[in-house]
Amino acid sequence: MPALVLLGAQWGDEGKGKATDLLGGSVDYVVRYQGGNNAGHTVVVGDQKYALHLLPSGILSPGCTPVIGNGVVVDPAVLLSELSGLNERGVDTSKLLVSGNAHLITPYHTTVDKVTERFLGKRKIGTTGRGIGPTYADKINRVGIRVQDLYDESILTQKVEAALDFKNQILAKLYNRRAIDSAKIVDELLGYAEQIRPFVADTTLILNNAIDDGKVVLFEGGQGTLLDVDHGTYPFVTSSNPTAGGACTGAGVGPTKINRVIGILKAYTTRVGAGPFPTELFDKDGEALRTIGGERGVTTGRDRRCGWFDAVIARYATRVNGLTDFFLTKLDVLTGWEQIPVCVAYEIDGKRVEELPYSQTDFHHAKPIYEMLPGWTEDISKAKTFSELPKNAQAYVKALEEMSGAPISAIGVGPGRDETIEINSFLS
Ligand code: GDP
Ligand code: IMO
Ligand code: MG
Repeated sequence: MPALVLLGAQWGDEGKGKATDLLGGSVDYVVRYQGGNNAGHTVVVGDQKYALHLLPSGILSPGCTPVIGNGVVVDPAVLLSELSGLNERGVDTSKLLVSGNAHLITPYHTTVDKVTERFLGKRKIGTTGRGIGPTYADKINRVGIRVQDLYDESILTQKVEAALDFKNQILAKLYNRRAIDSAKIVDELLGYAEQIRPFVADTTLILNNAIDDGKVVLFEGGQGTLLDVDHGTYPFVTSSNPTAGGACTGAGVGPTKINRVIGILKAYTTRVGAGPFPTELFDKDGEALRTIGGERGVTTGRDRRCGWFDAVIARYATRVNGLTDFFLTKLDVLTGWEQIPVCVAYEIDGKRVEELPYSQTDFHHAKPIYEMLPGWTEDISKAKTFSELPKNAQAYVKALEEMSGAPISAIGVGPGRDETIEINSFLS
């Protein structure tokens, strides 16, 4: 089983960090392929809790090489502070590899992210304010700065000047902001260069060789399917491709090399930021899911919007990612409800719709059609096998599996590494 992708099947925060960490012990490389420090991945190891934003969750597994692929956007200040935070806690980070082709988030990208959101007013996306969108925009506009540029002062200076020439006009004339001094930016970036140099590598070559040698490579998505810039709820999305195809472009590995694609799926639904969310709850059930599930953003500290499980979205994730398996997380959070509603289809303008509509207008009008499944009250957090789950919890999982279109191969019953029921091995 040389290469597998692990990604979010909903709007992010499904528990990808925990799932990656769980496999980390048996994996040779864990690779981030898109996004940046907009991610917030929580990993609980024993009594230690780690919040990772930019680094792959595999960094906590000693035998595993963590890789930041070319498709990631890297804030060098965040990279260095996350590394030193882990070093202080005794984590060895020396194996990290960073693609020389990854783009850099600079202070002007974070500034543009924040002022754009302010300018949009009530139409804002609710971004994490980490400069993600503006950095990807510069990449596509061919005025981005790459990690490798840190090692050629002349090129770096020319590129920063070129990028700021245009941006300063906008900042000053449109947003009424002071222009940014390109020399200061260059100085700041050069100040990071030597500290990052030991990690910089041709990650595409290393990863392809590793797969050819039979090593196990895990591609860890940030965000989720519905936040994908192509397949998500545009424009309320992030600016990269968290879906499975993003692993190929964001790491330089061909689709023929990938054997398995695992969708991380929460047993209910959450979303942070603006945008449509058909099963969102505004009542005491939503509040209970938020409280019991600890649904507060790891990156921004914002409360997550909460709602019931949406099988239309799960089916869509199966389709656009070619999922081979699901990892169902946070089943324990649903303990105690007498009945659990599950959205099986939408009603749009009086018609029943089984598949996610491609039209934004239709999706905004989608009303969930619910089926009620019987709940359970027994504590499931100690369950180690599927048969140890209460009958109704088993039936809930089976119903979700049938509706979602791929086998559920693992179930999370708590945040800890060992609070997991493994049904089929992901690595066989
Ligand atoms: P990610 O962004 O997909 O890595 O997910 P986050 O870390 O942002 O959010 C998931 C939260 O749920 C974290 O606080 C995890 O520790 C926690 N978590 C993950 N799996 C489970 C589970 O099965 N049960 C419970 N109760 N918590 C879980
Ligand atoms: P993880 O990896 C949940 C959301 C933001 C906003 C939109 C665009 O922890 O699942 P951006 O800063 O990316 O331009 O914001 O995407 N968002 C996430 N929501 N989990 C995440 O990451 C997210 N990363 C970005 O809230 O709505
Ligand atoms: Mg998260």
